[in-house]
Amino acid sequence: MQEKVDVILKEVEEAKANTQEELEQFRLKFISKKSVVGDLFAELKNVPNDQKKAFGMKVNEVKQAAQAKFKALIDNLETSIQGGASDHEDLTLPSAGHTLGSMHPLNYIRSQIIEIFERIGFNVADGPEIEDDFHNFTALNFPENHPAREMQDTFFIEKNPDILLRTHTSNVQVRLMQKQKPPIRSIMPGRVYRNEAISARAHCVFHQVEGLYIDKNVSFVDLKQTLYHFAKEMFGKDTKVRFRPSYFPFTEPSAEIDISCQICKGDGCQLCKYTGWVEIAGSGMVDPNVLANCGIDNEEYTGFAFGMGIERISQLKFRVNDLRLYTENDVRFLKQFSTLH
Ligand code: DAH
Repeated sequence: MQEKVDVILKEVEEAKANTQEELEQFRLKFISKKSVVGDLFAELKNVPNDQKKAFGMKVNEVKQAAQAKFKALIDNLETSIQGGASDHEDLTLPSAGHTLGSMHPLNYIRSQIIEIFERIGFNVADGPEIEDDFHNFTALNFPENHPAREMQDTFFIEKNPDILLRTHTSNVQVRLMQKQKPPIRSIMPGRVYRNEAISARAHCVFHQVEGLYIDKNVSFVDLKQTLYHFAKEMFGKDTKVRFRPSYFPFTEPSAEIDISCQICKGDGCQLCKYTGWVEIAGSGMVDPNVLANCGIDNEEYTGFAFGMGIERISQLKFRVNDLRLYTENDVRFLKQFSTLH
Protein backbone atom coordinates (compact mmCIF):
# COMPACT_ATOMS: atom_id res chain seq x y z
CA MET A 1 0.00 0.00 0.00
CA GLN A 2 2.66 2.37 1.15
CA GLU A 3 4.65 1.63 -1.96
CA LYS A 4 1.74 2.45 -4.23
CA VAL A 5 1.38 5.84 -2.53
CA ASP A 6 5.07 6.58 -3.03
CA VAL A 7 4.88 5.70 -6.73
CA ILE A 8 1.96 8.10 -7.21
CA LEU A 9 3.76 10.87 -5.31
CA LYS A 10 6.81 10.43 -7.51
CA GLU A 11 4.67 10.54 -10.64
CA VAL A 12 3.08 13.79 -9.47
CA GLU A 13 6.44 15.36 -8.81
CA GLU A 14 7.84 14.44 -12.19
CA ALA A 15 4.77 15.33 -14.27
CA LYS A 16 5.12 17.86 -17.12
CA ALA A 17 2.47 19.65 -19.23
CA ASN A 18 3.51 21.41 -22.41
CA THR A 19 0.04 21.58 -23.90
CA GLN A 20 -3.51 22.12 -22.69
CA GLU A 21 -4.18 18.45 -23.41
CA GLU A 22 -1.38 17.26 -21.18
CA LEU A 23 -2.62 19.57 -18.47
CA GLU A 24 -6.08 18.05 -18.74
CA GLN A 25 -4.62 14.55 -18.56
CA PHE A 26 -2.86 15.49 -15.34
CA ARG A 27 -6.09 16.83 -13.91
CA LEU A 28 -8.02 13.69 -14.79
CA LYS A 29 -5.34 11.40 -13.41
CA PHE A 30 -4.51 13.19 -10.14
CA ILE A 31 -7.14 15.79 -9.27
CA SER A 32 -10.59 14.73 -10.47
CA LYS A 33 -13.01 12.63 -8.38
CA LYS A 34 -12.10 9.47 -10.28
CA SER A 35 -8.36 10.12 -10.05
CA VAL A 36 -5.80 7.73 -8.57
CA VAL A 37 -5.76 9.95 -5.49
CA GLY A 38 -9.51 9.52 -5.18
CA ASP A 39 -8.97 5.74 -5.37
CA LEU A 40 -6.48 5.95 -2.49
CA PHE A 41 -9.10 7.65 -0.31
CA ALA A 42 -11.55 4.88 -1.23
CA GLU A 43 -9.04 2.28 -0.08
CA LEU A 44 -8.81 3.87 3.35
CA LYS A 45 -11.63 1.65 4.59
CA ASN A 46 -9.59 -1.52 3.88
CA VAL A 47 -6.60 -0.37 5.92
CA PRO A 48 -6.27 -1.93 9.42
CA ASN A 49 -7.41 0.45 12.14
CA ASP A 50 -4.00 0.97 13.68
CA GLN A 51 -2.56 2.12 10.35
CA LYS A 52 -5.50 4.27 9.25
CA LYS A 53 -4.15 7.51 10.69
CA ALA A 54 -0.70 7.26 9.12
CA PHE A 55 -2.13 6.18 5.75
CA GLY A 56 -4.69 8.98 5.80
CA MET A 57 -1.96 11.56 6.39
CA LYS A 58 0.11 10.16 3.56
CA VAL A 59 -2.80 10.25 1.12
CA ASN A 60 -3.56 13.81 2.12
CA GLU A 61 0.03 14.69 1.41
CA VAL A 62 -0.31 13.23 -2.09
CA LYS A 63 -3.55 15.19 -2.63
CA GLN A 64 -1.92 18.46 -1.65
CA ALA A 65 1.16 17.76 -3.74
CA ALA A 66 -1.06 17.05 -6.77
CA GLN A 67 -2.97 20.32 -6.32
CA ALA A 68 0.20 22.37 -5.90
CA LYS A 69 1.71 20.72 -8.95
CA PHE A 70 -1.44 21.36 -11.00
CA LYS A 71 -1.28 25.08 -10.21
CA ALA A 72 2.41 25.21 -11.10
CA LEU A 73 1.73 23.46 -14.43
CA ILE A 74 -1.01 26.00 -15.27
CA ASP A 75 1.30 28.95 -14.53
CA ASN A 76 4.03 27.42 -16.58
CA LEU A 77 1.84 26.78 -19.56
CA GLU A 78 0.44 30.34 -19.51
CA THR A 79 3.85 31.95 -19.58
CA SER A 80 4.99 29.78 -22.44
CA ILE A 81 1.80 30.55 -24.43
CA GLN A 82 2.30 34.30 -23.85
CA GLY A 83 5.79 34.03 -25.23
CA GLY A 84 7.77 33.67 -22.06
CA ALA A 85 11.41 32.89 -22.46
CA SER A 86 11.97 29.25 -23.30
CA ASP A 87 15.18 27.37 -23.87
CA HIS A 88 15.01 28.16 -27.59
CA GLU A 89 14.87 31.95 -27.32
CA ASP A 90 17.83 34.26 -27.55
CA LEU A 91 17.19 37.09 -25.12
CA THR A 92 20.17 39.06 -26.37
CA LEU A 93 18.59 39.73 -29.79
CA PRO A 94 17.36 43.32 -30.40
CA SER A 95 13.56 43.66 -30.37
CA ALA A 96 11.57 43.79 -33.62
CA GLY A 97 10.49 47.36 -32.80
CA HIS A 98 7.04 48.93 -32.97
CA THR A 99 5.46 50.26 -36.14
CA LEU A 100 3.66 53.50 -35.44
CA GLY A 101 0.64 54.55 -37.46
CA SER A 102 0.60 57.97 -39.11
CA MET A 103 -1.99 60.63 -39.71
CA HIS A 104 -4.03 60.31 -42.89
CA PRO A 105 -3.26 63.28 -45.18
CA LEU A 106 -6.97 64.16 -45.48
CA ASN A 107 -7.33 64.26 -41.70
CA TYR A 108 -4.28 66.46 -41.50
CA ILE A 109 -5.60 68.95 -44.09
CA ARG A 110 -9.02 68.89 -42.45
CA SER A 111 -7.59 69.79 -39.05
CA GLN A 112 -5.40 72.51 -40.60
CA ILE A 113 -8.46 74.09 -42.24
CA ILE A 114 -10.40 73.90 -38.97
CA GLU A 115 -7.53 75.49 -37.04
CA ILE A 116 -7.25 78.41 -39.47
CA PHE A 117 -10.96 79.21 -39.28
CA GLU A 118 -11.24 78.62 -35.55
CA ARG A 119 -8.58 81.26 -34.96
CA ILE A 120 -10.83 83.84 -36.65
CA GLY A 121 -13.94 82.92 -34.73
CA PHE A 122 -15.60 80.12 -36.71
CA ASN A 123 -16.92 77.07 -34.91
CA VAL A 124 -17.33 73.56 -36.33
CA ALA A 125 -20.79 72.17 -37.16
CA ASP A 126 -21.85 68.75 -38.33
CA GLY A 127 -24.79 67.27 -40.24
CA PRO A 128 -26.10 63.99 -41.66
CA GLU A 129 -24.65 62.18 -44.68
CA ILE A 130 -28.03 60.60 -45.44
CA GLU A 131 -30.21 63.53 -46.36
CA ASP A 132 -33.59 64.47 -47.80
CA ASP A 133 -34.20 66.41 -50.98
CA PHE A 134 -35.16 69.58 -49.11
CA HIS A 135 -31.85 70.00 -47.25
CA ASN A 136 -29.61 68.86 -50.10
CA PHE A 137 -31.38 70.67 -52.97
CA THR A 138 -34.72 72.46 -52.53
CA ALA A 139 -33.80 74.79 -49.66
CA LEU A 140 -30.60 75.64 -51.55
CA ASN A 141 -32.60 77.03 -54.45
CA PHE A 142 -31.96 74.22 -56.92
CA PRO A 143 -34.56 74.50 -59.67
CA GLU A 144 -36.80 71.44 -60.06
CA ASN A 145 -35.09 70.27 -63.24
CA HIS A 146 -31.48 71.07 -62.27
CA PRO A 147 -29.16 68.40 -63.72
CA ALA A 148 -27.48 67.79 -60.34
CA ARG A 149 -30.69 66.18 -59.13
CA GLU A 150 -30.59 63.54 -61.81
CA MET A 151 -29.54 59.97 -61.28
CA GLN A 152 -26.06 60.27 -62.74
CA ASP A 153 -24.91 62.59 -59.96
CA THR A 154 -26.81 61.57 -56.88
CA PHE A 155 -26.99 58.29 -55.02
CA PHE A 156 -30.64 57.94 -54.14
CA ILE A 157 -31.60 55.67 -51.27
CA GLU A 158 -35.35 56.11 -51.66
CA LYS A 159 -37.50 57.87 -54.24
CA ASN A 160 -40.69 59.87 -53.53
CA PRO A 161 -40.01 61.35 -51.11
CA ASP A 162 -36.33 61.35 -52.01
CA ILE A 163 -33.73 60.24 -49.50
CA LEU A 164 -30.16 60.42 -50.76
CA LEU A 165 -26.48 60.52 -49.89
CA ARG A 166 -25.61 64.19 -49.66
CA THR A 167 -23.81 65.48 -52.73
CA HIS A 168 -22.19 68.37 -50.87
CA THR A 169 -21.78 69.73 -47.33
CA SER A 170 -24.12 72.63 -48.15
CA ASN A 171 -26.93 70.62 -46.51
CA VAL A 172 -25.38 71.51 -43.14
CA GLN A 173 -25.79 75.24 -43.92
CA VAL A 174 -29.51 74.66 -44.21
CA ARG A 175 -29.75 72.66 -40.99
CA LEU A 176 -27.71 75.24 -39.13
CA MET A 177 -29.81 78.19 -40.31
CA GLN A 178 -32.99 76.32 -39.41
CA LYS A 179 -31.96 75.76 -35.84
CA GLN A 180 -29.75 78.75 -34.99
CA LYS A 181 -30.46 82.48 -35.06
CA PRO A 182 -27.73 84.70 -36.57
CA PRO A 183 -24.97 85.50 -35.99
CA ILE A 184 -23.79 82.21 -37.48
CA ARG A 185 -20.10 81.73 -38.13
CA SER A 186 -19.37 78.05 -38.78
CA ILE A 187 -17.37 75.67 -40.87
CA MET A 188 -18.68 72.24 -41.69
CA PRO A 189 -16.27 69.50 -42.73
CA GLY A 190 -17.63 66.20 -43.98
CA ARG A 191 -17.85 63.34 -46.42
CA VAL A 192 -19.92 63.70 -49.59
CA TYR A 193 -21.02 61.30 -52.33
CA ARG A 194 -21.54 61.48 -56.07
CA ASN A 195 -22.40 58.82 -58.55
CA GLU A 196 -19.13 58.99 -60.49
CA ALA A 197 -16.97 56.23 -61.93
CA ILE A 198 -13.82 55.93 -59.84
CA SER A 199 -10.67 57.10 -61.60
CA ALA A 200 -7.52 59.05 -60.77
CA ARG A 201 -9.43 62.32 -61.13
CA ALA A 202 -12.91 61.47 -59.84
CA HIS A 203 -14.29 59.49 -56.94
CA CYS A 204 -17.73 58.65 -55.62
CA VAL A 205 -16.70 59.54 -52.05
CA PHE A 206 -14.76 62.67 -51.19
CA HIS A 207 -14.59 65.42 -48.58
CA GLN A 208 -15.56 69.05 -48.41
CA VAL A 209 -15.46 71.88 -45.94
CA GLU A 210 -18.36 74.29 -46.06
CA GLY A 211 -18.25 77.77 -44.54
CA LEU A 212 -21.13 80.04 -43.56
CA TYR A 213 -21.21 83.51 -42.05
CA ILE A 214 -24.59 85.18 -41.46
CA ASP A 215 -25.03 88.43 -39.59
CA LYS A 216 -26.20 92.01 -40.08
CA ASN A 217 -24.22 93.89 -42.77
CA VAL A 218 -22.08 91.00 -44.00
CA SER A 219 -20.78 91.92 -47.45
CA PHE A 220 -18.68 90.56 -50.30
CA VAL A 221 -15.68 92.35 -48.78
CA ASP A 222 -15.95 90.08 -45.72
CA LEU A 223 -16.02 87.04 -47.99
CA LYS A 224 -12.94 88.20 -49.89
CA GLN A 225 -10.93 89.04 -46.80
CA THR A 226 -11.82 85.79 -45.07
CA LEU A 227 -10.73 83.70 -48.03
CA TYR A 228 -7.60 85.77 -48.68
CA HIS A 229 -6.68 85.11 -45.08
CA PHE A 230 -7.37 81.39 -45.45
CA ALA A 231 -5.32 81.03 -48.66
CA LYS A 232 -2.32 82.80 -47.18
CA GLU A 233 -2.45 80.81 -43.93
CA MET A 234 -2.82 77.53 -45.77
CA PHE A 235 -0.40 78.03 -48.66
CA GLY A 236 1.96 80.80 -47.52
CA LYS A 237 1.81 84.59 -47.62
CA ASP A 238 3.13 84.92 -51.17
CA THR A 239 0.13 83.05 -52.50
CA LYS A 240 -1.96 85.10 -54.93
CA VAL A 241 -5.76 84.81 -54.84
CA ARG A 242 -8.32 85.71 -57.48
CA PHE A 243 -12.12 85.62 -57.57
CA ARG A 244 -13.74 84.51 -60.80
CA PRO A 245 -17.46 85.17 -61.43
CA SER A 246 -19.42 81.93 -61.41
CA TYR A 247 -22.85 80.47 -60.76
CA PHE A 248 -24.29 78.42 -57.89
CA PRO A 249 -28.04 78.19 -57.27
CA PHE A 250 -27.61 79.05 -53.58
CA THR A 251 -25.41 82.16 -53.88
CA GLU A 252 -25.78 85.46 -55.68
CA PRO A 253 -23.35 86.80 -56.72
CA SER A 254 -21.15 83.71 -56.88
CA ALA A 255 -17.43 83.35 -57.40
CA GLU A 256 -14.87 80.62 -57.80
CA ILE A 257 -11.63 81.14 -55.93
CA ASP A 258 -8.31 80.43 -57.59
CA ILE A 259 -4.85 80.58 -56.06
CA SER A 260 -1.54 80.88 -57.84
CA CYS A 261 -0.35 77.39 -58.78
CA GLN A 262 1.66 75.89 -55.93
CA ILE A 263 3.64 73.64 -58.23
CA CYS A 264 4.98 76.09 -60.85
CA LYS A 265 4.40 79.30 -58.83
CA GLY A 266 2.44 80.75 -61.71
CA ASP A 267 4.82 79.92 -64.59
CA GLY A 268 2.50 77.31 -66.05
CA CYS A 269 2.54 73.52 -65.65
CA GLN A 270 0.36 70.46 -66.23
CA LEU A 271 -1.53 70.82 -62.94
CA CYS A 272 -2.69 74.39 -63.69
CA LYS A 273 -3.08 73.57 -67.39
CA TYR A 274 -0.52 76.26 -68.13
CA THR A 275 -2.71 79.04 -66.72
CA GLY A 276 -0.74 79.64 -63.50
CA TRP A 277 -3.97 79.39 -61.47
CA VAL A 278 -5.76 76.52 -59.71
CA GLU A 279 -9.28 76.51 -58.36
CA ILE A 280 -9.70 75.80 -54.63
CA ALA A 281 -13.27 76.75 -53.71
CA GLY A 282 -16.71 77.97 -54.71
CA SER A 283 -18.27 80.86 -52.84
CA GLY A 284 -20.76 83.68 -52.87
CA MET A 285 -23.31 85.76 -50.99
CA VAL A 286 -26.09 83.53 -49.67
CA ASP A 287 -29.09 83.96 -51.98
CA PRO A 288 -31.95 85.76 -50.15
CA ASN A 289 -34.25 82.88 -51.22
CA VAL A 290 -32.07 80.44 -49.30
CA LEU A 291 -32.23 82.60 -46.17
CA ALA A 292 -36.01 82.71 -46.47
CA ASN A 293 -36.24 78.94 -47.10
CA CYS A 294 -34.37 78.39 -43.85
CA GLY A 295 -36.45 80.82 -41.79
CA ILE A 296 -34.01 83.74 -41.64
CA ASP A 297 -35.20 87.30 -42.23
CA ASN A 298 -33.46 88.30 -45.49
CA GLU A 299 -34.22 92.01 -44.94
CA GLU A 300 -32.27 92.03 -41.71
CA TYR A 301 -29.48 89.57 -42.43
CA THR A 302 -26.99 88.85 -45.19
CA GLY A 303 -24.24 86.29 -45.36
CA PHE A 304 -21.57 84.56 -47.36
CA ALA A 305 -20.84 80.90 -47.93
CA PHE A 306 -18.03 78.88 -49.43
CA GLY A 307 -17.22 75.26 -50.08
CA MET A 308 -13.92 73.57 -50.82
CA GLY A 309 -12.67 70.05 -51.48
CA ILE A 310 -10.25 68.63 -48.95
CA GLU A 311 -8.73 66.29 -51.55
CA ARG A 312 -8.05 69.30 -53.78
CA ILE A 313 -6.21 71.18 -51.04
CA SER A 314 -4.27 68.02 -50.23
CA GLN A 315 -3.36 67.57 -53.89
CA LEU A 316 -1.87 71.06 -53.95
CA LYS A 317 -0.06 70.59 -50.64
CA PHE A 318 1.26 67.06 -51.14
CA ARG A 319 1.11 66.65 -54.93
CA VAL A 320 -1.03 63.54 -54.72
CA ASN A 321 -2.45 63.25 -58.20
CA ASP A 322 -4.48 60.06 -57.93
CA LEU A 323 -7.64 60.36 -55.83
CA ARG A 324 -7.86 56.60 -55.38
CA LEU A 325 -4.81 56.61 -53.13
CA TYR A 326 -6.77 58.26 -50.33
CA THR A 327 -9.12 55.34 -49.84
CA GLU A 328 -6.95 52.35 -50.71
CA ASN A 329 -5.11 52.35 -47.37
CA ASP A 330 -1.86 51.24 -48.95
CA VAL A 331 0.74 51.59 -46.19
CA ARG A 332 3.41 52.55 -48.72
CA PHE A 333 1.33 55.67 -49.44
CA LEU A 334 0.30 56.35 -45.84
CA LYS A 335 3.83 55.93 -44.49
CA GLN A 336 4.96 58.94 -46.50
CA PHE A 337 2.95 61.15 -44.13
CA SER A 338 4.45 59.80 -40.92
CA THR A 339 6.00 63.15 -40.00
CA LEU A 340 2.61 64.94 -39.94
CA HIS A 341 0.98 65.58 -36.60
N1 DAH B 1 -21.69 73.03 -52.89
C1 DAH B 1 -20.74 73.37 -53.92
C2 DAH B 1 -20.22 72.11 -54.58
O1 DAH B 1 -20.35 71.06 -54.01
C3 DAH B 1 -19.59 74.14 -53.34
C4 DAH B 1 -20.01 75.49 -52.87
C5 DAH B 1 -19.98 76.55 -53.76
C6 DAH B 1 -20.42 75.66 -51.56
C7 DAH B 1 -20.35 77.81 -53.34
C8 DAH B 1 -20.81 76.95 -51.15
C9 DAH B 1 -20.76 78.01 -52.06
O2 DAH B 1 -21.23 77.18 -49.91
O3 DAH B 1 -21.12 79.24 -51.62
O4 DAH B 1 -19.69 72.17 -55.64
